[in-house]
Amino acid sequence: MIATVKSGVLQGVEACMVDVEVDINQGLPAFNIVGLPDVAVKESKERVRSAINNSNYRFPPRRITINLAPADIRKEGPSFDLPIAMATLSALGLVDSSRLNEYVIIGELSLDGTIRPVNGILSMAIMARKQWKGKMIVPRENVGEALLVKDLKIIAPSTLSEAVELVNSGNGETNIPPEDKVLPSGYKLDFSDVKGQEHVKRALLIAAAGGHNVLMIGPPGSGKTMLARRIPSILPPMNLEEAMEVTKIYSVAGLLDKKSSLIKERPFRSPHHSISSAGLIGGGSYPRPGEVSLSHNGVLFLDELPEFRRDIIELLRQPLEDGKVTIARALISITYPADFMLIGALNPCPCGYYTDPVKSCTCNSIQITNYLRKISGPLLDRFDIHIEVPRLDTNQIFSSPSEEKSETMREKVIKARQIQYKRFVNKSIFNNGQMDTQDVSNYCRINEEIRKILKHAMDRLGLSARAYYRILKLSMTIADIAGKDNISLEDVAEAIQYRSGGIKFWN
Ligand SMILES: Nc1ncnc2c1ncn2[C@@H]1O[C@H](COP(=O)(O)OP(=O)(O)OP(=O)(O)O)[C@@H](O)[C@H]1O
Ligand SMILES: [Mg+2]
Repeated sequence: MIATVKSGVLQGVEACMVDVEVDINQGLPAFNIVGLPDVAVKESKERVRSAINNSNYRFPPRRITINLAPADIRKEGPSFDLPIAMATLSALGLVDSSRLNEYVIIGELSLDGTIRPVNGILSMAIMARKQWKGKMIVPRENVGEALLVKDLKIIAPSTLSEAVELVNSGNGETNIPPEDKVLPSGYKLDFSDVKGQEHVKRALLIAAAGGHNVLMIGPPGSGKTMLARRIPSILPPMNLEEAMEVTKIYSVAGLLDKKSSLIKERPFRSPHHSISSAGLIGGGSYPRPGEVSLSHNGVLFLDELPEFRRDIIELLRQPLEDGKVTIARALISITYPADFMLIGALNPCPCGYYTDPVKSCTCNSIQITNYLRKISGPLLDRFDIHIEVPRLDTNQIFSSPSEEKSETMREKVIKARQIQYKRFVNKSIFNNGQMDTQDVSNYCRINEEIRKILKHAMDRLGLSARAYYRILKLSMTIADIAGKDNISLEDVAEAIQYRSGGIKFWN
């Protein structure tokens, strides 16, 4: 007796179809799983056996072989329990096999036959719609996630026996989208709380408008962390495509709130400086997206940058350039999206007062050099905006808070982003920060006069080719905020000034 059902396995954030074949034969009782299963899949045998016995069926004392095809993809995690159990019951003639074969089946089983939620349902649901018949059996707790995919018919049972009943009766399908999660009405922290630092707020506005990386340097207590934490309040909303990308990553990482549906707010991640390389970049024995992927389409904030291990922050270089990370493992390499805005904050020296006009710095030049050297040249080159955050003087501290609220800043950001959406309508990018060299040459046109001044500035500051392209992208965003069609000289001048802000520290 043979039965086959469809299931799936995650590869990065994409799902890949897997056939689960069951063969039940006469012979000495045995239960084997073949087809490159990992430990969790092999353990599936015990869960399936108990779940079937505890759901008022009898696990047959025969020779049972399960094959997971294609055999060259590694099968990980417990999500094969339900398809294996359903295929076994189908081979025994307890489930209508032609009906069952229309579904992609995913789910973990408890010993008592309850179906438990699994990670990555959204990616599997997209696969079921694109590559199979648009029907799926998912754990009840994951139904909200599966229903994000349009035109997908879903059976969402909570136990194995319920799954069998619903498939046999042929009318257990649902496709009613879950109620939208109520969005919090506005972000609590607001830029109007920050006194002074108008030039930093302007720089952060530009960064948010175009998705540029920012490095903030300043003495303790000048407001770097405070400013960075207010960035989410001015980020533009995500479009559906961006929201789906982010939700997929959180689903794969198992961080999706079980009741929630689509993630609509841009992520803001701020990992501690003790983070490991797998935590930052992703990977591990059960591969998981790291912080760079969890901040996809949002912000990665690294506070106290020199406190991070140097080799770990160097790992950011590839994702900052490519917008994705590839992790090579023994049998496969996995790619996760990782297109984020990097915000870094640091003091200019160990004591923190190197640039302070009043407090004197107690560090010697070797200490300062060693401190700043923790951030390598190549990493520094990837920051479009280097901005100094000076300590407030007493008058500023006693002044009333700033007039400009996050809301007005956000409106400017949204306007500038709309121009960019239109600009890149036929491309798979959404903001100026994502442009590659080719795009920069196409979209960022400058006249001869600007070219000359830019060349002069680059010679004087000793800037790289990467810096050249990044200055042009930044200039484009500054022009977009002003609603101009073309980049003007003052836009380029402002961009160059942001670029040169950090040079005095590192030279
Ligand atoms: N510009 C400002 N306006 C209002 N309050 C401020 C400002 N700067 C600092 N503060 C106050 O000082 C506190 C400390 O600021 P913050 O943590 O942002 O400093 P920091 O620059 O990150 O310092 P460190 O380098 O030590 O991390 C803030 O929580 C806030 O109460
Ligand atoms: Mg701080």
